[in-house]
Amino acid sequence: MKKIYLIGVGPGNPEYLTIQAIETMKKTDVFFLLEKEGRGKEELLRLRRDILSRYLGEDGYRVVTATSPPRTMREPGYEEGVLVWHDQKRALFASLIADELRDGESGAFLIWGDPSLYDQTVSLIADLVATSAEPLDFEVIPGITSVQVLTARHKIPLNRIGESITITTGRQAETRDPAEFHNAVVMLDYNASFQRFTGQDMDIYWGGYLGTPDETLVAGPLDEVLDELRRIKAQARDEKGWLMDIYLLRRRKGDDA
Ligand SMILES: C[S@@+](CC[C@H](N)C(=O)[O-])C[C@H]1O[C@@H](n2cnc3c(N)ncnc32)[C@H](O)[C@@H]1O
Repeated sequence: MKKIYLIGVGPGNPEYLTIQAIETMKKTDVFFLLEKEGRGKEELLRLRRDILSRYLGEDGYRVVTATSPPRTMREPGYEEGVLVWHDQKRALFASLIADELRDGESGAFLIWGDPSLYDQTVSLIADLVATSAEPLDFEVIPGITSVQVLTARHKIPLNRIGESITITTGRQAETRDPAEFHNAVVMLDYNASFQRFTGQDMDIYWGGYLGTPDETLVAGPLDEVLDELRRIKAQARDEKGWLMDIYLLRRRKGDDA
């Protein structure tokens, strides 16, 4: 039997790992580190290697790096593009498990944040386990999400009393009616979609590079901090070439407005 662990490692700070994550790492034989092409590749890979060194030292495990297939925008539809990309990732995982893991060994993927949030590795590995010709099992180890770090760093609850919370993507924030947004966390936003929400009594709680030495926080009425956010985002892209950010948009209630 081969065993795969999908270990949530939190979104940047090695101290966000849970004890369960560390104990699972200690019994792992092979770590699969996936590199994404583009600027930020070395930094993100180094963060994962630092986690291994810090908790396991340098010996007693193998590390296999592989290039994660890039998302191509060639396919006509968004959904179709994602399916093609997932097929490529599933094939990569299958070959890593077949070629790099011996029977009786365990392998782990270190998943940024928590494996259940905007990450499809769980589904892809579940597909492989369901169709595997050889005995294969997997386990998911939860991690701290970037949503939790955002609210902790801003010292706010995720929702006000009795309120719902939406967690969505920049793609949705860019296309949906802003009136639908009351209390929403927006992730994977490449186009500063919060700009569509000005003039609507919205507060924003924004975090870039959370948990890393470059962590930046901005909070306040969206109309007032918009220019600052635009400047920070432009500077981040100029200086580092990549940015990971997340924000909570919160419509002010009558009493607070
Ligand atoms: C593919 S999703 C993965 C989310 C991850 N599984 C989690 O639990 O947070 C990547 C998005 O998460 C958010 N994110 C992850 N880490 C972050 C960090 N350190 N700082 C700010 N945003 C982060 C950003 O919105 C980014 O575009």
